[in-house]
Amino acid sequence: MSTLSTNQQQALADNVWLHFFQMGHLSSTGARPTVLVRGEGSRVWDQDGKSYIDGLSGLFTVNVGYGRREIAEAVAAQLTDIAYVSPFSFPSLPMIDLSAKLASISPTGPQSRVFLTSGGSDAVETALKLAKAYHRMNGDAERTKVIARRVSYHGTSMGALSVNGVTSIRNGFGPLVPGARHVPLPYQYRCDYCALHGACRRTCVDEVERLIEFEGPETIAAIIMEPVQNSGGAIVSPPGYLQAIREICDRHGILFIVDEVICGFGRVGGWFGSAEMGVSPDIITCAKGITSGYAPLGAAVVRKAIADAFISDNDAEKFMHGITFGGHAASAAAALANLAILEREGLTERSRELGNYMISELRAAVGNHPNVGEVRGMGMFYGRRVGARSRNPRVAA
Ligand SMILES: Cc1ncc(COP(=O)(O)O)c(C=O)c1O
Repeated sequence: MSTLSTNQQQALADNVWLHFFQMGHLSSTGARPTVLVRGEGSRVWDQDGKSYIDGLSGLFTVNVGYGRREIAEAVAAQLTDIAYVSPFSFPSLPMIDLSAKLASISPTGPQSRVFLTSGGSDAVETALKLAKAYHRMNGDAERTKVIARRVSYHGTSMGALSVNGVTSIRNGFGPLVPGARHVPLPYQYRCDYCALHGACRRTCVDEVERLIEFEGPETIAAIIMEPVQNSGGAIVSPPGYLQAIREICDRHGILFIVDEVICGFGRVGGWFGSAEMGVSPDIITCAKGITSGYAPLGAAVVRKAIADAFISDNDAEKFMHGITFGGHAASAAAALANLAILEREGLTERSRELGNYMISELRAAVGNHPNVGEVRGMGMFYGRRVGARSRNPRVAA
């Protein structure tokens, strides 16, 4: 028995617009969407009382699980004290504490500055603008291009969309922000470059170098990458890959932005995927697990040496960027309570341990099955490939 009123059902038919979702399917098929009304731990319940295990954790988001009263109480307490504090003019108390906390756990270093946003796309948007502004500040105004990877996903606002590598998401919204360039993923299982050679020759790394040389290193502002790439299907950066990109960035004066919107806060084990892989980015973008979805929030965590370019007594040198709800006090309070839970219960380490256990058990159980080509993932982040298959005929589908 549905708990939706007639008015709610009508609103679903007429007014609700889900994201990346064809609403017309609901009316054409008469399907009733699953309306989730309750959550506890890793389990959610729909409007009919049916329960499900939420294997996707919302959208790679609810890292501490549903029903955490202490986060709800922290949010309520902040809203009662003061609901809104403008980040254009004033810090809120949770914003101060959260910035310090994020700096203390980030591989960008404890002196990092933290620009809080309201989600992942605007964290990426912030990082891209910051990279361009940083170079302009240093007299390198020509550095405006950004290298991302094919198949990558960095969000849907115009800047973030432009660096996305998912063609179907990008096309249809042009002209996009100029300057985005795309390199191949280090996707060893269906590698277009190395599959025929039986071993990785790091051609995907060479491609980054070649593109930089082709474009002119003095025109490249930043490289942006996810440690474990989601939209290609949990594609884990191979050992040494991110280090090689870091080295290329250093050699050419390019900023390395690591997009940890999914990978951060325990999703792949540890606080950040980049740290797990032994790499120190210039800017980390994060969101999702920062509050475990209890409130919307994102952040660009910026290495001190980069942020310092904007910090002076000259008003003309400030970072000309702001978001009304960026670092909302209630969201920052949620993040602090959430990070406290992750820390107290050792959940980021648990993700690493369970991930290691899961991948070895999966490989042992089904790894040699003729229908299984590869078992991959890291921490609590496993996936399958959607979309185009390799054109390489020798590579198994
Ligand atoms: C790696 C990555 N970057 C950015 C985003 C965009 O975040 P949001 O949807 O919060 O704008 C996402 C969203 O899934 C993501 O996975």
